[in-house]
Amino acid sequence: MHALGIDIGGTGIKAAPVDVAVGTLLAERQRIETPHPARPDAVAGVVRELVAAFEWSGPIGVTFPGVVVGGETRTAANLDAAWVGMNARELLGRAVGQPVRVLNDADAAGIAEMAFGAGKGITGTVLMLTFGTGIGSALFTDGKLVANTEFGHIHLHGHDAETRVSDQARELHDLSWGKWAGRVQDYLQYMEALLSPELIIIGGGVSKKADKFVPLLEGIRATIVPATLRNDAGIVGAAMATTPAYVTE
Ligand code: BGC
Repeated sequence: MHALGIDIGGTGIKAAPVDVAVGTLLAERQRIETPHPARPDAVAGVVRELVAAFEWSGPIGVTFPGVVVGGETRTAANLDAAWVGMNARELLGRAVGQPVRVLNDADAAGIAEMAFGAGKGITGTVLMLTFGTGIGSALFTDGKLVANTEFGHIHLHGHDAETRVSDQARELHDLSWGKWAGRVQDYLQYMEALLSPELIIIGGGVSKKADKFVPLLEGIRATIVPATLRNDAGIVGAAMATTPAYVTE
């Protein structure tokens, strides 16, 4: 089965058709800058452009960087606040003239990694964390997703964790890899105390540079591995979410 995966992020919106049986892209992905402000109509316009660019008709899955329940976007920490309480499934479906499925971006990336990447065949508790503009999380138990976990917003030393530990925080505060790895380690130790996962998968754009910080992480029992689908995980997971096995709403 083929589906179009669209990944809405704080800086770019990316899309590609995906063979969901094997988790590979069927064409080179296209990327359009996220409009600023990232208001619903502006973002819907970009989603429409991407669907048109592939002349796509068929299943469409879209990731969103916030809580998504039953098609409704309930938070939008790094996009315009106008998304909160919107029915994104209806808005985007209307914009593209076809039904769409909408899910959290980290959940989508996690679904893809569990099926085709670093989490393939792993049972027990697996925690995927994406480090980018924010921190996204996806929790799996025996391969089954617990959606919308939002562990990026736990409080660590009195701060919303993503404001100190995201990749954006690393760049904004000009942190060395060592300094940032210390913060990541602190955060992972806290998550481990809560969840005791077998495996922690590190995703997001920074997973490309995993060799700069993963070897520095100490005092964590879980195996820590970088995501293997890298930047395509969101697109692949969005496409997979259109198939009956992943329909969670
Ligand atoms: C949002 C999450 C999202 C993550 C990564 C956080 O700020 O609350 O829903 O998964 O950023 O985009």
